[in-house]
Amino acid sequence: MNRIARSHWGSRIGFILAAAGSAVGLGNIWRFPYITGENGGSIFIVVYLLCIALLGLPIIIAEVMLGKVSQRNPVGAFQKLAGKHSLWQLAGFMGVLAAFVILPFYSVVAGWCLGFLCKTITGVFEPGHGMHEIISIFSKMTASPLQQSIFLGLFLIMTVSIVLSGVRKGLQRWTEIMMPALLLILFGLVIYGMTLPGAQKGLQFLLSPEPTKLTAQSVLAAMGQCFFSLSLGMGAMLTYGSYLQAKDRVSNSSFWVVFMDTGIALLAGLIVFPIVFSFGLEPAQGPGLVFVTLPAAFLQMPGGTWIAFAFFVLLLFAALTSAISLLEVITAYFIDEHNIPRSLAAIMFGFICFIIGVGCTYNGGYFDFLDKLSSNYLLPIGALCISLFVGWKLDKKLSKDDFTGTGYVKLFSLWFWCVRVIAPVLVILVFLNALGLF
Ligand code: TRP
Repeated sequence: MNRIARSHWGSRIGFILAAAGSAVGLGNIWRFPYITGENGGSIFIVVYLLCIALLGLPIIIAEVMLGKVSQRNPVGAFQKLAGKHSLWQLAGFMGVLAAFVILPFYSVVAGWCLGFLCKTITGVFEPGHGMHEIISIFSKMTASPLQQSIFLGLFLIMTVSIVLSGVRKGLQRWTEIMMPALLLILFGLVIYGMTLPGAQKGLQFLLSPEPTKLTAQSVLAAMGQCFFSLSLGMGAMLTYGSYLQAKDRVSNSSFWVVFMDTGIALLAGLIVFPIVFSFGLEPAQGPGLVFVTLPAAFLQMPGGTWIAFAFFVLLLFAALTSAISLLEVITAYFIDEHNIPRSLAAIMFGFICFIIGVGCTYNGGYFDFLDKLSSNYLLPIGALCISLFVGWKLDKKLSKDDFTGTGYVKLFSLWFWCVRVIAPVLVILVFLNALGLF
């Protein structure tokens, strides 16, 4: 096949930022608090952190490594490493399919951010607005398929234009500015939240685990959230890894990505729940949680509409750097395997995701279905395949080489056994448990 030469990241830090840009997004700030609220708070967080340590960290290294050693998209990677007709490539196909499941509903939520952004400019949000007004503004927006489709379309146009400009100029540049700014606002909000009357109840919800609240479904949700938040299990990290050079090392870079991602999710929780309890809201209210709590907090502050504006701009950037990694998986597959030019692939598949997303704006059940289908099933199954492949099929020398010369060389065996045995067994146990087999 006549391959187009592959571009590479400008530097190791370029890769870390892009991978962190993919990981940090709506998953941390929108999804983590809402799933935590639905699954009982602190005990869910304990299970989530266990999943990050035992599944997220080892598997992200495995996935990036597959990309680096194969220099291919998810399907091509398995074909190259396991043979053209091997069944492993199904895992790659499932990843490309998962991108078509995730990007549409992800863009709907990013569209809500855009919508809120417009509402802060046009004066729909006014200083002093209380919870009731905000809930009604949010409900009106989500009840209008037309409004949502416009914002969703705008968001996808932005995503497509960045993916069009390719690896370095497009993917790398954006991440470098927004991450520090987002962190700054988040820290400010944590401090604000702590000073609210009744904030302790929120902290209690986060910090005093009650094991009796744990159900099989919430363990599954914690595992799903772990993969969703780290962009694992569908080849996004694999694709980003494929833009690394053979001399690059992935094991040490991956640690930082996991650290930042988990830190930001926890910060979001620390912001949202003190506000929820202080305003007497229901923590388990679902996907709207962040969109009603944060504006309510902003609008109580002096200059609040501006803070709200800044926050939604940053959240939108965070969502963009994640969405481009989803579209990049689809694009890389069609460039590598079908020789379709980057521009055509990005535009065409961006449009298909738009159509699927419009479907979600008409039917909330459909939105929920795509959300849970991807996180709780497609991603864990993809991650299971990746970890089995690296643990049992990939030449051990290749993975060992990646650890040599880094400060992590002593951890190679620990990582290897995690990927080979512990992670696959855990994923399967969580599935069986959720199916009610114990
Ligand atoms: N991780 C991103 C977030 O937390 C979402 C995301 C981007 C993603 N790429 C992905 C999720 C690939 C799963 C797979 O917002």
